Amino acid sequence: MRRFLKWFGIITGGLLGVFLVLLVVLFLVGSRKENRTYDIEIASVAVPTDAASIAKGKHYVEAIGVCQVCHGQDLAGPDVDGCKVVPCTAFSDDPLFGKLMPSNLTSGRGGIGGVFSDEDYVRAIRHGIGLDGKSLLIMPSEQFNKISDEDLGAIIAYLKTLPPVDNELDESGLAPLGRILAVFEGSFLPATQIDHNAPRTPSPVAGVTAEYGEYLAEICTICHGERLSGGEVPGSDRAEAPNITPGGAPGSWTRSQFIDTIRSGTTPQGNLLDPRLMPWNRFTQMTDDELDAIWLYLQSLPAREFEK
Ligand code: HEC
Ligand code: HEC
Repeated sequence: MRRFLKWFGIITGGLLGVFLVLLVVLFLVGSRKENRTYDIEIASVAVPTDAASIAKGKHYVEAIGVCQVCHGQDLAGPDVDGCKVVPCTAFSDDPLFGKLMPSNLTSGRGGIGGVFSDEDYVRAIRHGIGLDGKSLLIMPSEQFNKISDEDLGAIIAYLKTLPPVDNELDESGLAPLGRILAVFEGSFLPATQIDHNAPRTPSPVAGVTAEYGEYLAEICTICHGERLSGGEVPGSDRAEAPNITPGGAPGSWTRSQFIDTIRSGTTPQGNLLDPRLMPWNRFTQMTDDELDAIWLYLQSLPAREFEK
């Protein structure tokens, strides 16, 4: 018996040791990923100042890029208390996971307005890289990387007009568990997911076309997956986003049922969509033409099986 206990102790101790070494290695790999700095060439983007462009930027920010979901209603940082943001749980200050603080984008105290140059905005939004040269945390730049020069210029023009709101936020950073998870989960550190030197492909002209719909639907891939056949809401407790190709429920809908779903947050099957998971309450500000274009694109996809 004693002998058995001795061997039992040696084996479990050994396994535990291997497990701990593995955790330490993953932690170090994750730390390296988080601390990697990027020194890249930033292509300049013309930032207009006319009222029409600023209005266009505001529309993109509110209805398409849904920046307020994370950066808060007034874009001065998340509305943590009411947890009125998607994904709510991501904005915790968790000793194991880390701190995720979507920045104050205004020119008030603690904000980036007045501090950021045009180039800094492009580096952050298109490349997911902050002023320190490191990857921003969870900012969806992998998707925003596809925004056209014209739209990006308009977005920056609009951000520069935001009324100042004072809100000094803590810095974001991953804690040990967050760093271990970052080894496997690319969306934590968007700069690691982007080919920063890829030549830019021309963006489609705005219109009711499947091509323009694909451009707009880039934002949907954050949760519904790269192939739109299903995915997970980042930062949530693994909340599932359904298949929206014709292989999913929308396959049996008409165009107007799709538009009604986004406008009302209720599907033809009578499901209420939770705005804290699916930001339909923001997408509802898209124009009919924009929603039509997205519908045309979704219809043009093959009927895929649900697959994350
Ligand atoms: C899923 C949440 C999320 C969404 C949606 C989002 N952001 Fe962010 N953003 C963040 C977080 C978190 C940070 C801070 C990351 C950090 O400090 O590492 C950030 C940082 C930034 C920064 C850099 C600021 C700085 O302090 O370095 C800019 C600029 C920015 N976001 C603009 C935008 C714009 C414009 C949109 C919409 C087109 C947008 N964001 C949408 C989460 C988000
Ligand atoms: C932040 C994550 C997120 C983004 C971004 C997002 N969705 Fe969703 N979507 C969800 C989740 C989660 C559900 C399921 C919600 C529920 O059942 O309460 C959903 C549900 C839906 C449904 C209902 C499908 C069904 O089977 O009933 C449609 C349609 C839809 N989304 C379309 C879109 C489109 C189009 C876009 C882009 C313009 C988009 N979503 C962007 C998370 C997201």
